[in-house]
Amino acid sequence: LSKIDTALRQATAALKAAGCDSPRLDAVLLLAEATGLAPDRVRIETDRDIAPEAEARFNALLARRTARQPMAQILGRREFWSLTFRVTPDVLDPRPDSETLVAAVLERVANRQAKLRLLDFGTGSGCLLLSLLHELPEAHGLGIDQSEAALVVARGNAASLGLDARATFQLGDWGSGLEGAFEIVISNPPYIESGTIAALAPEVARHEPLSALDGGADGLEAYRRLIPDAARLLAPDGLVALEIGQGQETAVAALLERAGFGAVAMAADLGGTIRTLLARKSR
Ligand SMILES: C[S@@+](CC[C@H](N)C(=O)[O-])C[C@H]1O[C@@H](n2cnc3c(N)ncnc32)[C@H](O)[C@@H]1O
Repeated sequence: LSKIDTALRQATAALKAAGCDSPRLDAVLLLAEATGLAPDRVRIETDRDIAPEAEARFNALLARRTARQPMAQILGRREFWSLTFRVTPDVLDPRPDSETLVAAVLERVANRQAKLRLLDFGTGSGCLLLSLLHELPEAHGLGIDQSEAALVVARGNAASLGLDARATFQLGDWGSGLEGAFEIVISNPPYIESGTIAALAPEVARHEPLSALDGGADGLEAYRRLIPDAARLLAPDGLVALEIGQGQETAVAALLERAGFGAVAMAADLGGTIRTLLARKSR
């Protein structure tokens, strides 16, 4: 039987050689997953034997990680806004930076008990919409995605979070064919310049859905299409909140202004990078 200590040392070396950013942490989390032990116990009980079945599971998980599959895809889950979301290769791995959008929207909701209608373009795992619905108990939300496989994941997340009575997920191309009025429209669209995707970390370039990343030649294609849809679908004084890529604030603010939105506000992440633009539709 192998000991935890030996398994962790060998796995950490293999993950480091494969170019993983946090090899020791990944090894601990994968061994915890394979053994069913809590990560803290894996860290402390290093003298413990690993059962052969658990070791086989560990080696299988490790092979996926050395091939640079994202941890969230291997574990099948990611914490976002302190909620657990299922993650598969069909959806973007929810990023901590995207919590900036959730916080910025909540700051602008005057009454959290209001019966708000939310619309999420490019919902993916549903993490943005479902986090907001979790905080806004009377709100209802519609999540749109062009990927049927992503919608299956989003619906599963709504159910496991107990939000399925207030969340609907529908196939669509941004706002085309949609009607109605929404108080809040949010989106984290694909915004990476097509030509730079291949050079991203293998976790992203090789394992995340291209349609969640590719923003066209200049990265702004999705904003050009969805901002006019947001303007049309928002109720008077409604709020739009868009995640943007680093350095895109001037260009996307100009698109919002051209679509008739009022003053554009910006929200930064904890590192000071502007991640979200917000604007209201004129009354
Ligand atoms: C960057 S991911 C964001 C996922 C999730 N909202 C999040 O923040 O983690 C962008 C999403 O937009 C979807 N998408 C791309 N083009 C679309 C289109 N034309 N209409 C609707 N959704 C689209 C992709 O399938 C993907 O799920």
